[in-house]
Amino acid sequence: MSTVSMAVDLGGIKMRNPLNTASGTFGNGWQFEGFYDVGATLGAITCKGLAAEPWAGNPAPRLAELRGAAIMNSVGLQNPGVRGFVETYGEYLQGLRDKGCQVICQVAGHSVEEYVRATELYEELAPFASGFEINISCPNIAKGGAAMGATPEGAAEVMRAVRDRTERPILVKMAPHDVAEIGRALESAGADALSLINTIPGMTIDVHTRKSRLSRPTAGVSGPAIHAIAVRMVWECAQAVAIPLCGIGGVATGEDAAEMILAGATAVSIGTANMVDPSCAPRILAELEDWAESQGVNDINELIGAFEC
Ligand SMILES: Cc1cc2nc3c(=O)[nH]c(=O)nc-3n(C[C@H](O)[C@H](O)[C@H](O)COP(=O)(O)O)c2cc1C
Repeated sequence: MSTVSMAVDLGGIKMRNPLNTASGTFGNGWQFEGFYDVGATLGAITCKGLAAEPWAGNPAPRLAELRGAAIMNSVGLQNPGVRGFVETYGEYLQGLRDKGCQVICQVAGHSVEEYVRATELYEELAPFASGFEINISCPNIAKGGAAMGATPEGAAEVMRAVRDRTERPILVKMAPHDVAEIGRALESAGADALSLINTIPGMTIDVHTRKSRLSRPTAGVSGPAIHAIAVRMVWECAQAVAIPLCGIGGVATGEDAAEMILAGATAVSIGTANMVDPSCAPRILAELEDWAESQGVNDINELIGAFEC
């Protein structure tokens, strides 16, 4: 048991420790129950992005392993729609809340109207949601997604529209570019916190067939190979905004999580690492606690943004 207080406040979402899960890499939590007690371990989970109506996602193949600690995915936000999600997972997710683990529900859309509609449905059907994460950064869908978040104006428009529909905390999942400028626009539009980064667009070609190794020409790169880029973007964004950040990208060890915190993240999400080692979260938490203790602080909050140039 750590002697350091690990509790953090992610824009109104009170987490028992800084560990969260990255949307799309952790199912909706229950898939990991055979490995550890999710509700008793994590500070929060972030569920897969959901739209008001079900989406089929992209055709297979959707995942490719890359040499050197990375994968690529083009899942394309396959989801059962908010209503189907609540019917299937609502009881389990309420159970996580009861154990003290926060549940962040992710909102997807092809247009401002679709983001609004999904948020309204969550408001009506999902009392277990501690807050929402607006995904304006999915690189794997043809319309909406990353296109909506590509400019400060587009990002702020979605944020303002959703802000009107809920009083629960709103995070925004950001793409890996212009994070300072777009972060400032989102903060002005009412975001409570920012999550960064989503995957980085890449390409992988099967040279024998001359075709993509996935079903689309480009897809999102994730995993330890993007960690240093993500840390740099968290640091840049932290200089630009006063709202808290959730650092995401290649976190696989307690030291990786510690880097995010030093760069300015209040919380840290585990993504691809869950798919490599489904039992990694309790280990990463123990390593993070050890590191915090080794820094001689009483409270992990003392280490947020404590990077020294
Ligand atoms: C298979 C897969 C599915 C993903 N689905 C989503 C999603 O639904 N919504 C989202 O915002 N990000 C999604 N992501 C991106 C992750 O949440 C995360 O931002 C990214 O993978 C970087 O973190 P990592 O390097 O720790 O994996 C997905 C990533 C993967 C690998």
